[in-house]
Amino acid sequence: MSTGTSGSYWQGKALPSVFKHELLKRYLPPFAGMTGSQEKRGVVYLDGYAGEGRYESGEPGSAEIALRVARHHQGLGLQMSCFFVEQQEKSFARLQEVVEGYRTSGVRASARRGGVDDVLDEVVGQAVGMPLFLFLDPCGLCLPMDRLSGVLAGKRQQKWPPTELLMNFSMMAVRRLGGHV
Ligand SMILES: C[S@@+](CC[C@H](N)C(=O)[O-])C[C@H]1O[C@@H](n2cnc3c(N)ncnc32)[C@H](O)[C@@H]1O
Repeated sequence: MSTGTSGSYWQGKALPSVFKHELLKRYLPPFAGMTGSQEKRGVVYLDGYAGEGRYESGEPGSAEIALRVARHHQGLGLQMSCFFVEQQEKSFARLQEVVEGYRTSGVRASARRGGVDDVLDEVVGQAVGMPLFLFLDPCGLCLPMDRLSGVLAGKRQQKWPPTELLMNFSMMAVRRLGGHV
């Protein structure tokens, strides 16, 4: 199972990323706008497999897409608290630079080095009573389904505060795993 990105991944955006970024760009702003306007403390956002944040070509990765949304919404008086998690050292260093650039302009954001599983409970804890948007975009398999459903159970099952999960589900990884079984 692949868990990291290969050498050329961050040189420029490949087609699958065009699709998922387009989804994120269309999905996150209305969610954060509509739910954030009803909760003074704002919205919590987690990008659990954030990567480098920006391609070497200068195009925004998922992290910078969310940071731009957060900056835009902040200008409208809507708060977003963003968490970005990345496991790989080199990718994390680049991610941190991108996040820092937005933090200095007042965006509430932090980059964490490690596995998403280690940060998930803390982020969900910070989002008690607040809308929560989870973006999970692994290279291979995502967190186990019972782990995810555990997070989305209980208070997060209620109508308010809302929880959204946008997840990249790799059929290729599932087939590969099925093949091994
Ligand atoms: C598909 S890439 C992310 C692309 C990014 N979401 C984007 O669209 O710009 C997946 C990233 O997750 C990282 N990763 C792999 N396993 C992880 C884990 N358990 N926790 C956090 N990050 C992980 C990899 O190093 C890689 O950078």
